[in-house]
Parts: sequence; C-alpha cells; structure tokens
Amino acid sequence: MGDLPGLRLRCDRSNAWRLLRTLHMAHDATFDLRSAFAQNPGRFEAFSQEAPYVFADLSKNLIDSTIEDQLLALARECGVEQHRDAMFQGAPINETEQRAVKHWLLRSPAAGTDAHDPDLAAVHAVLDAMLAFAESVRSHAAITDVVNIGIGGSDLGPQMAVLALDAFADSGKRLHFVSNVDGHELAATLRGLNPGNTLFLVASKTFTTTETMTNARSAKAWFLAGGGTDVARHFCALTTNVEAAAAFGIRTTFGFWDWVGGRYSLWSAIGLPIAIAIGGPGFRAFLAGAHAMDCHFRAAPLERNLPVRLGLLDVWYRNFCGFHSRSIAPYHSALRRWPAYLQQLEMESNGKRVDMQGNPLGFDTAPVLWGEPGTNGQHAYFQMLHQGTDVVPVEFVAVRDASHTLPGHHANLLANALAQAQALMLGRSDPGGHRDFPGNRPSSFLLLDALTPASLGALIALQEHRVFVSGSLWGINSFDQWGVELGKVLARDIEPRLASGDTTGLDLSTAGLLRRLRRQA
Ligand code: F6P
Repeated sequence: MGDLPGLRLRCDRSNAWRLLRTLHMAHDATFDLRSAFAQNPGRFEAFSQEAPYVFADLSKNLIDSTIEDQLLALARECGVEQHRDAMFQGAPINETEQRAVKHWLLRSPAAGTDAHDPDLAAVHAVLDAMLAFAESVRSHAAITDVVNIGIGGSDLGPQMAVLALDAFADSGKRLHFVSNVDGHELAATLRGLNPGNTLFLVASKTFTTTETMTNARSAKAWFLAGGGTDVARHFCALTTNVEAAAAFGIRTTFGFWDWVGGRYSLWSAIGLPIAIAIGGPGFRAFLAGAHAMDCHFRAAPLERNLPVRLGLLDVWYRNFCGFHSRSIAPYHSALRRWPAYLQQLEMESNGKRVDMQGNPLGFDTAPVLWGEPGTNGQHAYFQMLHQGTDVVPVEFVAVRDASHTLPGHHANLLANALAQAQALMLGRSDPGGHRDFPGNRPSSFLLLDALTPASLGALIALQEHRVFVSGSLWGINSFDQWGVELGKVLARDIEPRLASGDTTGLDLSTAGLLRRLRRQA
C-alpha cells in the first residue's frame, strides 16, 4: 500500500530502493564503461533506442542491465505507470493547487484517443483561432516587428523554439523577446522600432507578473508617445486572465487553462510567437511531434520507454551516484536557449524538498542543469568535465542533417560531439598527471535526423515526461512552484524603501545595501 496519493509509494520506502543501495556499493567500486563495452559487444544496442523523432544512445552511462532492471522495478513498485495514467486521465495530480495537469491535451488531435475529454473542443477552438490570427499577422505587411513580453514559461519556451526553428521562419517578421524587468532590455528592443509597425504580445498566464506588467505598461506608454493610435490592434494578450487583459485595453486575447503549468505552456496560446514565425502548418507539426512522444510515453513498455529510462537514470545519478548536476550540450547553434529552457522545466518542477504530503525528504531531488551550445562549451568549461574532481553527466543533443549549406561545418560539428562523448568515456592514461584523463565519465547522446518543428516538439515532450518520471518517484509535486513566491513578496516590501530610505525592521545586510544604493552609506 502506498503512502502518497493514488496509492503510490515514495521511492525511499520501496524494496527496490534498498536493493539499489546494495547494488550501488558493489557497482560503484567496480563498474567501468570501458570494460562494460569490452565484456558486452551488444551494449550499444541494449542501451540505445528509437523513440519518435529521437534516437537515444544511453550506453555511455554508468549502468548495466542489473541496475537498469532494478530501476525499472523501482518504477513499477512506486506506481509510476499509475501516476502517468492518472495525469493522462485528467486527475488533479497537482495536489497543492488542486489542478489537473493536461498540457499534453494541447497537442492531442481533435479526433484521437482523447476525443472524449471535455476540454478538447475548447483546446482546438483556441488553437484554430490563434493560428488564424498568426496567419493574419504573417500576411499583414505593415507589421514588421513582433515583441513578446513575458517571463519564465511565457518567455523561455517560445523563445527557445523560435530560435531553434529559425530555418523554418518564413514570415519576414522580426521577433523580439523581452522578459527582464531591467528597462535596459525593453529600451534596447524598442530602439529602432516604429509603433505603427509593431505588434506586442503580452504573454502571462496570470497577467499579474510584475516584470511582465511593468514591461507591458512601458511598451504601451512608448506606443502612445510615439503616435500609436490603436492599442487594441497593436497589443494582443496570451493569458488565462482574460478580464485583466481587457482592463489593460487589449481586445484580442487568446486564452488557456489553469491545468497548463507556465513551464508547460508553449503548446498553448503562449506558443503564438512560434506560430507567427513558422506558420500554422508548422505549429501543427510541432504539436504532432510532441503528441507522438506522448503516445510513446503512454504505451511503450517501461524497458523501451525513453522518458522512463531517462528519468530512472536521473534518479540513479542523483540519489545513488550522488551527482549534483547535469551539463546540457546541444550541438546545434539554433538550440542555444535549450539549456535555459531545461533549467526552468526541470529545476522549477523538481527543485522541491518535501513530498506531496509536506514531509521533508531524506534524499536529493533536481540536479543543477547548465550548459552552452557545443562547440563553445568545449573551449570554456569542458576542461572541468574531463579533468575536474566532480563527475558531471553530460547530455548531448546532435542533429544529423545540417540546416545550412556551408561546406565543412557540419561534419566538424558532429565530429566534435562524438569526440567529446568518446573522450569523456575513454579518457587517456598519462602517468605524468596533468595530461591524464580518467575517463569513465558518463554521457547520453540524443540524436535527431533533422531539427524540424516535429522533432523539436518530440524532444521537448521527451524532457517533460522524463521530469515527470523522476518527480513521480521522488513523491514530490512537479507542477507547483511555491519556491518563487517569497522573493516576490519581499521585493514588494523593499521597492518603496528604495524611495523612502526606510530600513526599519530590515536585516542588517539588506539595510546596508539599501543605504548604499541610496548613496547614504
Ligand atoms: O515566478 C515563476 C512563474 O510563476 C513561472 O512558473 C511562470 O512561468 C512565470 O512565473 C511567469 O508567469 P506568468 O505567465 O503568469 O506571467
């Protein structure tokens, strides 16, 4: 009987967890990737697999089939499949907010297996309207620039995807993303823009986020001061808070629902910048790629289920091997915001320290995710990955087909990706010390045939579901984010003090900094 909602069992209370602890002791002392390949010529096949649009080579990870079998037993014992099914049935698995978790419905076809879902018709109605609007913007010659104002999930997802799909961007519009409340960003973006040629998308699930509202108000003031005459035509809102958007003076609003988490919202109206960039058919292909990954996650047996295998590997590395971080290495320049996007997805979802019941956890959760596009990272921090004292699993993403025609570049890029993964694993012995590479350093290699709307959709959905799997095992709520609240509350208290200079009740450090900022030190 489980101790979490839905009769689930928290991972550390399972038999499989205890067995994994024992296995780890022996494994840690003896496992070496080089001998694992030498002993098992079928290792590549056993630890690699196809999933929709993504081929994954997991063979250079610090696992063997005994470990993986036990991790799969952990998933079964802890009810990951039941939890997954509950999410896809629309159960309110976001318990702390009493909400369902249905971002997957946003990419479900109108007449598919989810046709019975009471929300599906509304999803498609908004999708159709939003894509029609995107087409009207694309064909509107007077609009040359589109500025998305949003932050967190209302920025990172669309921005990452618009950059990633720049080879498919055929609208001729310039897309800009403004997220930071630092006016430097908005001012730099507005410089050179003309109100009459600019469309602002105010993207905010809540329509209350300070950064976004501050930027939206300043954009409106700039628009009016520059002779802009029709706010209703030049501002569009993407939000669940339709009333607040109307109060702002916006008439064109595309809504979504409270069962879409901010970091899972790029499939909703929040994806409008993507649709403007690549067009309606491209956006539908993006959704279809993600849906294909949903089908895989829902139906594939656990041992060939890629999100499950990746999520289990994450638990193995974090809770048994004690690795603190994962480095994300996209070998494609268009994926340059991929690490930032994944940071929010995984660290906001799984950076939790209590279980669903509020009980403190006696084990670690989300690792730190960080990275830069390859090959740039190689010339910066890869030194530490190869020879530093910490072991950091690396997740490579590479794309077989180039999205340009410049000769020579792509083979060089791919050779570097393969070589780095190889060097991490094989190392090189040099008794002199400084030139010695220990090797046996783990990596996963995700490979796309081409970076297209569909493959990007599948790649993102893969990551969403792997985060679900580790969060489910840890027994945490991957779908709330209470940890971002305290800083917001304190900022509201501090802001007026910057003007008044009142330091009453402040801690001494904050008071000292505030005085310095007011030049009173
Ligand atoms: O502060 C965190 C957060 O709530 C994220 O979860 C969210 O993606 C972001 O702020 C933006 O929120 P909104 O879309 O409501 O403006």
